[in-house]
Amino acid sequence: MNMQASLPQRVKIVEVGPRDGLQNEKESVPAHVKIELVDRLTGAGFANIEAASFVSPKWVPQMATSVEVMAGIARRAGVIYSALTPNMQGFEAALAASADEVVIFGSASEAFSQKNINCSIVESIARFEGVAKAAKDHGLRLRGSISCAFGCPYQGEVPLDAVADVVGRMRDLGCDEIDIADTIGVATPRKTQAVMLRAMEQFRAAGLSGHFHDTYGQALANIYASMEVGIAIFHSSVSGLGGCPYAKGATGNVATEDVLYMMRGLGIETGIDLDLVVDAGQFISQFLGRKGASRAGNAIAAKRAG
Ligand code: HMG
Ligand code: MG
Repeated sequence: MNMQASLPQRVKIVEVGPRDGLQNEKESVPAHVKIELVDRLTGAGFANIEAASFVSPKWVPQMATSVEVMAGIARRAGVIYSALTPNMQGFEAALAASADEVVIFGSASEAFSQKNINCSIVESIARFEGVAKAAKDHGLRLRGSISCAFGCPYQGEVPLDAVADVVGRMRDLGCDEIDIADTIGVATPRKTQAVMLRAMEQFRAAGLSGHFHDTYGQALANIYASMEVGIAIFHSSVSGLGGCPYAKGATGNVATEDVLYMMRGLGIETGIDLDLVVDAGQFISQFLGRKGASRAGNAIAAKRAG
């Protein structure tokens, strides 16, 4: 029996800290801090940073600075700066802010769809049609994010068929990339592989990404398991920032530093400088006034301090 499943030689890490990470912070983080965070991440070498979210400020007040953030960041040529756009109002704002990629975000769970974006799954897809068409007309990349693909805080189990169905709908909208998201971090490795393999029946593996929150400490194992079945794009947050305002108890995304440390150990290229990400993690943790949630980040910082 071959115990060594083949892993990708290179993966794309999408840094989502400035959006998914910070959106959950209760205290308003000023735009200049977010801008410095994004600039530090750009400097660390990410090819794709989720920098903003053009949603209702009543729903997610922390993201109300998105216009300023997008206007203030120092962009590096070739880097994709993404923004969440739940509807045409969000799309118009993202377009005006020169986002490179817009993200429509739906759910595999009916209950979560209602709580997060105030409509059913089918209604959300209808709402996304206009956004998807406008994105294509303007030559922007389009990403589809599917929440609760592994479990839902409101309805519990989410059937594989429901995930497959939404992946197919996102594909038909013309998404360039589709995120399979573990919003509440409940997945375990075999379940992860089952969901990913099912998603791959609907969409090319090279365009699928794993978006794992680390609530139950399973995210790195799930990333490894995803790579074993051919997934090579992952989302993470510097310093493990985050949570979800509509998923109580969910902690942040898997920490970027932890993912980079694992990739380095596996000899998988990311193009990202781990030391600079640790610096960015220290910067934002200091601002937030708490210790960062990245194990690797804290270990590297402690070692530096001698
Ligand atoms: P609604 O109340 O049904 O929408 O919300 P509406 O069309 O009736 O509009 C209500 C008000 O919101 C109006 O203002 C609109 O102008 C305004 P009013 O007239 O009352 O003053 N509005 C907007 N303002 C700014 N930008 C907009 C926008 N749209 C409407 N784009 C809506 C529907 C989708 C807008 C709302 O539910 C919403 O904003 N939800 C956002 C939820 C959210 O951001 N969740 C977190 C991100 S998803 C996530 O984190 C998961 C992910 O990480 C993957 C994972 O882990 O699962 C991606
Ligand atoms: Mg998330």
